[in-house]
Amino acid sequence: MASTTGDPVIEALAVLAADAAGCTRCPLAATRTTVVFGEGDPHAGMMVVGEGPGREEDLQGRPFVGRSGQLLDRLLAEEAGLRREQVYIANVVKCRPPGNRDPEPAEIEACGSYLAGQVAQIRPRVVLTLGNFSTRTLLATKEGITKLRGRPHPWGPDGTVVLPTFHPAAALRGGGEVLARMRADFVRAKELLAAAGL
Ligand code: URA
Repeated sequence: MASTTGDPVIEALAVLAADAAGCTRCPLAATRTTVVFGEGDPHAGMMVVGEGPGREEDLQGRPFVGRSGQLLDRLLAEEAGLRREQVYIANVVKCRPPGNRDPEPAEIEACGSYLAGQVAQIRPRVVLTLGNFSTRTLLATKEGITKLRGRPHPWGPDGTVVLPTFHPAAALRGGGEVLARMRADFVRAKELLAAAGL
């Protein structure tokens, strides 16, 4: 691809996104409307990683633009003092599972190099994983989110930590208790960024 920005991170992400746009590595390619690669600040200190696009995301080609996304935006602003443009938002699978079913292990595996490439380029200090799928994928564990959430887990060679929290959809379903824990986790994310000088 021709050089357009001079910023190697932006260019590498653009190459990955172009590859993902034509991806047929798994059956989700057949039913998607749009590949939802991810968006945000390519030099963000924090990445937010969800599960996979829902209906709105599939239509718009952008992550977290439906109801879960509205709650995510609120938590980022109210607890971490961040606008969504200041973080980088992506999902474990880039194409919508039909009917919002859970992604299959083979689909997560097929999509894995896109997420790995995004993290490798952005090199965030904090990766906030939303829910079981992104947490289990990044931490390579079968442990559940309730046990793992709210604590930073060292990840990779660069001092990056994974901070798991619940998926916003769980707060929308589960109400006050889940939401209160998520608020505390977003405050923790802000503290971790501050400790890293960000
Ligand atoms: N849920 C997710 O996990 N990701 C999105 O992008 C939207 C909803």
